[in-house]
Amino acid sequence: MEAGAQFFVLQIILCFILIRRCHSSQLDVQCLRTLQQSIKDPDNTLKYTWNFDNSTEGFICRFSGIECWHPDENKVLNIRLSNMNLQGHFPSGLENCTSLTGLDLSNNKFSGPIPDDISKRIPFVTSLDLSFNSFSGSIPMNLSNCSYLNILDLQSNQLTGMIPWQLSSLSRLNNFNVADNLLSGPIPEFKNNSFPAANFANNPGLCGKPLDECRAPSKSNTGVVIGSAVGSAVAMILVVGVIVFFCLRNISVKKKKKEEEENKWAKNLKGLKGVKVSMFEKSISKMKLNDLMAATNDFNKENIIGTGRTGTMYKASLPDRTFLAIKRLQDSQHSETQFVAEMATLGSVRHRNLVPLLGFCVAKKEKLLVYKHMPRGTLYDSLHPQEAEEKKLEWPIRLKISIGAAKGLAWLHHNCNPRILHRNISSKCILLDDDYDPKISDFGLARLMNPIDTHLSTFVNGEFGDLGYVAPEYARTLVATPKGDVYSFGVVLLELVTGERPTHVSNAPENFKGSLVEWINYLSNTSLIQNAVDVSLIGHGYDSELLQVMKVASSCVLSTPKERPTMFEVYQLLRAIGERYHFTADDDILLQPQSSGADFMDELIVAQ
Ligand SMILES: *[C@@H]1O[C@H](CO)[C@@H](O)[C@H](O)[C@H]1NC(C)=O
Ligand SMILES: *[C@@H]1O[C@H](CO)[C@@H](O)[C@H](O)[C@H]1NC(C)=O
Ligand SMILES: *[C@@H]1O[C@H](CO)[C@@H](O)[C@H](O)[C@H]1NC(C)=O
Ligand SMILES: *[C@@H]1O[C@H](CO)[C@@H](O)[C@H](O)[C@H]1NC(C)=O
Ligand SMILES: *[C@@H]1O[C@H](CO)[C@@H](O)[C@H](O)[C@H]1NC(C)=O
Repeated sequence: MEAGAQFFVLQIILCFILIRRCHSSQLDVQCLRTLQQSIKDPDNTLKYTWNFDNSTEGFICRFSGIECWHPDENKVLNIRLSNMNLQGHFPSGLENCTSLTGLDLSNNKFSGPIPDDISKRIPFVTSLDLSFNSFSGSIPMNLSNCSYLNILDLQSNQLTGMIPWQLSSLSRLNNFNVADNLLSGPIPEFKNNSFPAANFANNPGLCGKPLDECRAPSKSNTGVVIGSAVGSAVAMILVVGVIVFFCLRNISVKKKKKEEEENKWAKNLKGLKGVKVSMFEKSISKMKLNDLMAATNDFNKENIIGTGRTGTMYKASLPDRTFLAIKRLQDSQHSETQFVAEMATLGSVRHRNLVPLLGFCVAKKEKLLVYKHMPRGTLYDSLHPQEAEEKKLEWPIRLKISIGAAKGLAWLHHNCNPRILHRNISSKCILLDDDYDPKISDFGLARLMNPIDTHLSTFVNGEFGDLGYVAPEYARTLVATPKGDVYSFGVVLLELVTGERPTHVSNAPENFKGSLVEWINYLSNTSLIQNAVDVSLIGHGYDSELLQVMKVASSCVLSTPKERPTMFEVYQLLRAIGERYHFTADDDILLQPQSSGADFMDELIVAQ
């Protein structure tokens, strides 16, 4: 059953990949075809390698000057046509290279204007190099809508007029060069104010920082008017888009709700209300299934606080106004005896960075686990709040969370005997208490879900973990290892530093369909890694810590498991980065890597 379902999922994923390919490839081919037709190539530099007759998937990736996202997929990443004696106007057809991030036309003889709808043609460009050509006319204001631009090199052309002040809104720009043109007027105040004077040299009338002061300031009002007109039109489009998006989403949400609505299973337990809940903590008064039902309003859907691979979590309000979290375990194929034994083990696992399992209850086929309730919910919800205006977590808190979570996980890996692999680490299973102390939940449950338990620490995984968090080797071998957890934890670290979701990167070009890890890999290959950092964190004196954590994260998500650090090392690295904050309480126990056979468990059990 399980293997079948898994295969089905794989098939669906494959289908998506295939559909995506067929869909995108034709456009990118068309893009290059149009591009070639629109320019003059007197030396026939492109003629021989740009052969459109061979239509193997990925064939355009071998054209000279073309780089693809993947060598066997017709999806163009960069176009580099430098120094090829090309002529004519700015090439057309680029709209169809929908994933283009770099365009280099430098050192050719292109002429005519830079198109004033350039942001529509190459919306996701990060690097645009038009230097050493003969482009004329003014620098289009529309370049300010190429909001991913890092590098804009326009030097040695014949551009006239002013540098549009709107370009100052390009927040990622770290290289801007307009030397050797015919420009005049004030230089806009860029976010990065360290562009050297040489980048503005040899223009007849440029003034202002970093050149000499302007004498008679003159700001174009028409610019403002046109800018805001364009702006409001765009805002309208955005509003409509958002409405459509939410309507579409609502439909699918409704569908889901309907499935969850049925708490029939709970109603079926009516006869068993006297069943005792086994509690590990003596301090908690004796409870019966009846109490759990009353506290959750018969496991009403309103009380659901989370749904995951291991089951559904309900919030329970007790008569004394305290709360518990109750997990209804997904079908487990273990016998009741096995289950009870497993519970006894998990119930004895106590660490300040783990959500304590307080008790459990078996009623017919239902298995309910009772946990301490964590008031601030999941890290995922804190990082990706539903309402945009909600305050974002500050960096020191994020760092504290990363250190605490690393510690909890390292403890499971290195100090528990037998070691516990989590197999489902994500920001959804890291819960936060009132002080934003992180607590890992769901540990030990993967084993319960798993029908084939071949070994205590490495075992065949019956299903995938949360999408976006699963180590690449996991999907291949289906074997869970500590390094698989390290990978998933690395993704959580990336989430903390970038503020992005693991599967959908909002800051990446819209057509970038990869995961957060793929986005980071791409950025580090182009040494633009700092672009990935959550903008709300930059410039508050944490920049070096951010990059250090990014580094740790990147090592955790390396594709070769052996090259990843252990959880113990990850914890030590993070602790060192956060040293100045003194997060760790004095009474804290220092972790040590487990020496063979040693059982640290007893001495490390901390009473809650
Ligand atoms: C098409 O291109 C691929 C990859 O470059 C090559 O292996 C193949 O032989 C070519 N086919 C033809 C018919 O030229
Ligand atoms: C993009 O491709 C489509 C389909 O091949 C074509 O009809 C369209 O003209 C192309 N757009 C541009 C700007 O070349
Ligand atoms: C300028 O950019 C916007 C947004 O990208 C685009 O919709 C608009 O058509 C462009 N303006 C012109 C004059 O092309
Ligand atoms: C395009 O740029 C203008 C001026 O910088 C800005 O007001 C407008 O919001 C931008 N539009 C988009 C879609 O980014
Ligand atoms: C600012 O611009 C300079 C010069 O191009 C560059 O070296 C530096 O990295 C930029 N700084 C940032 C934060 O982008």
